[in-house]
Amino acid sequence: MSIKNLLQNSGIDKFETEIILAYVLQVNRAYLHTYPERELTQQEYGKYFDNLQHRLSGMPVAYIIQQKEFWSLNLKITQDVLIPRPETELLVEIILDKFRALTRGVSTTYRFLELATGSGAISIALAKDHPNFDITATDISEKALNIARENQQNNQTKNIKFIQSNWFAKIKTTEKFDAIICNPPYIAENDPHLTQGDLRFEPKIALTPGKTGLEAIEHIIKNAKNYLLQSGRLFLEHGYDQGEKVARLFQENKYEQIKIKKDLKNLPRVTFGSLSDVQS
Ligand SMILES: C[S@@+](CC[C@H](N)C(=O)[O-])C[C@H]1O[C@@H](n2cnc3c(N)ncnc32)[C@H](O)[C@@H]1O
Repeated sequence: MSIKNLLQNSGIDKFETEIILAYVLQVNRAYLHTYPERELTQQEYGKYFDNLQHRLSGMPVAYIIQQKEFWSLNLKITQDVLIPRPETELLVEIILDKFRALTRGVSTTYRFLELATGSGAISIALAKDHPNFDITATDISEKALNIARENQQNNQTKNIKFIQSNWFAKIKTTEKFDAIICNPPYIAENDPHLTQGDLRFEPKIALTPGKTGLEAIEHIIKNAKNYLLQSGRLFLEHGYDQGEKVARLFQENKYEQIKIKKDLKNLPRVTFGSLSDVQS
């Protein structure tokens, strides 16, 4: 079969077909249009066919080609980690804005703790932008941390230390951070979305923390105070319908300057607050 034939008869979206075919042939998409008559070898066709079947069964393209773009990074992604979402770029943007405003151009070392790093997406984006940030990134999954370490190496950042930890368990209370950052699992365990679309293929531990969906968020809000500097801030991503509840938890736990930010779809997505009435 020729490239042209395969592109015309895949049964899936043309763009996705191109991405999968380019991955199988280890070429870029432009190549497919430059050499449409090129015939696939038996082996290449077999690999393409297997991957197409995966896609037809609903597997997200990122898991098939084992990579995903996030921020300006190309990340390795396997089924051991959540596929980084565009909404999470908002979290990176807010933190960079906040700390850029604080540094006002002066190169200052800030200490960050990212909980639940998964593929390392958030920490690596921050580390790449600010090589002087001193970042500790944790996850309960050692398999996820191995992917995150590989991503740190591939993206040539050096300022992240990865630690396996159940939330704060392995972090000493004597360690104090300028910011604690987390995109935790926040979907309620009986939410029907978990059995639909891409979510079916992602690690359950990355998606749901329990019955209400707020268990991890609540735990982090309550405990982060013990690990923040007096001027420190907590930044949390959450579900589009959890903004008010999360802000209330921040209030109940006596955080100050609480703000909810909306994503590109105009949905509440990130809430943050500080321990004391620090300058914003
Ligand atoms: C929603 S994913 C976020 C991944 C990544 N930070 C991102 O934004 O793409 C949540 C992560 O929480 C981790 N996790 C779940 N329970 C945890 C726990 N008790 N302690 C630490 N990490 C946990 C999962 O392994 C998963 O990597």
